[in-house]
Amino acid sequence: MARRRQLYEGKAKILFEGPEPGTLVQYFKDDATAFNAQKKGTITGKGVLNNRISEFLMMKLAEINIPTHFIRRLNMREQLIKEVEIIPVEVVVRNIAAGSISQRLGIPEGTRLPRSIIEFYYKNDALNDPIVAEEHITAFGWATPPDMDDIVHLTLRINDFLSGLFLGVGITLVDFKVEFGRLYENEDMRIVLADEISPDNCRLWDTKTNEKMDKDRFRRDLGKIEEAYQEVARRLGILPEAGARDLKGPDTMQ
Ligand code: TMP
Repeated sequence: MARRRQLYEGKAKILFEGPEPGTLVQYFKDDATAFNAQKKGTITGKGVLNNRISEFLMMKLAEINIPTHFIRRLNMREQLIKEVEIIPVEVVVRNIAAGSISQRLGIPEGTRLPRSIIEFYYKNDALNDPIVAEEHITAFGWATPPDMDDIVHLTLRINDFLSGLFLGVGITLVDFKVEFGRLYENEDMRIVLADEISPDNCRLWDTKTNEKMDKDRFRRDLGKIEEAYQEVARRLGILPEAGARDLKGPDTMQ
C-alpha cells in the first residue's frame, strides 16, 4: 500500500492524511519527551499501549455522549480520527496536587484539592506552554467565550467519568491534560475532544500504594516505565496480547 502523506509530526504522534476527506490517521510512537523535549527517550511498546488505552477511554466517553475525534482503531499503532481544528490550549484538570501546581503554589504532592481545578496552558513550544487565564484565551481569540463554556463543561464531565472509571480498577486519577478541536460538519461547528488520553498525559496513582503508573516514571527516572503502562492497560482489561475475541471489560477491584 502506498505510504500515506504525513501532515504533522509531534513528540509522541504522527498525523497522516486519512483515507477519506475529513479524516486523519493518528500514529502512536514509542518516543517520549519531558520538560518541553529537553529530556528524550523511548518507552518500548508505549505507542501500542497508548493507542489501545486512548481508544478505550474515548469510546467509553462517547458512550456518555462526550463528542470525540475518535472513529476507530486501524491497527496496533494507528487510529482513524476526524480532522479537527485544534484549539491551541492545553486543558489540565487537577484533583490532587502534583507536578507544577505543587511547585508553583507550594502544595505538597498528594494533597487532595478542595475541589477539582481547571487550568489552561497556551500550546506554544517556543514559549514553553505558559499557563494562561481564560481572559487571555478569549482576548487573543484562541477560543471564543461559548467555546470555553463547552470546553469547561466537557472537561468537568470527562473528569467525573474518568475518575470513577479509574477508581473502579484501583487507580486514582490525580490530574490529566486534554485538548479540544473544532469539528466542522455541514454548516455546524462542534467542540470535540481530540488528541489522546493515556498515561502520557494523566497522573495515575495506584489507589492502595500511591505508586505512580504514568509518565512521571519517565520524567523522574523512577524505572519500570513499560511495566506501569502495561499495568494500566491490564487493569482496564485491554492488554493488546489478548486476541480481539478475548477482550474483556475492566477488572473491578474491591
Ligand atoms: P504538570 O503538573 O506538569 O503541569 O502536568 C499536569 C498534567 O498534564 C499531568 O497529568 C501531565 C500533563 N501534561 C501533559 O500532558 N503535557 C505537558 O506538556 C505537561 C507539562 C503536562
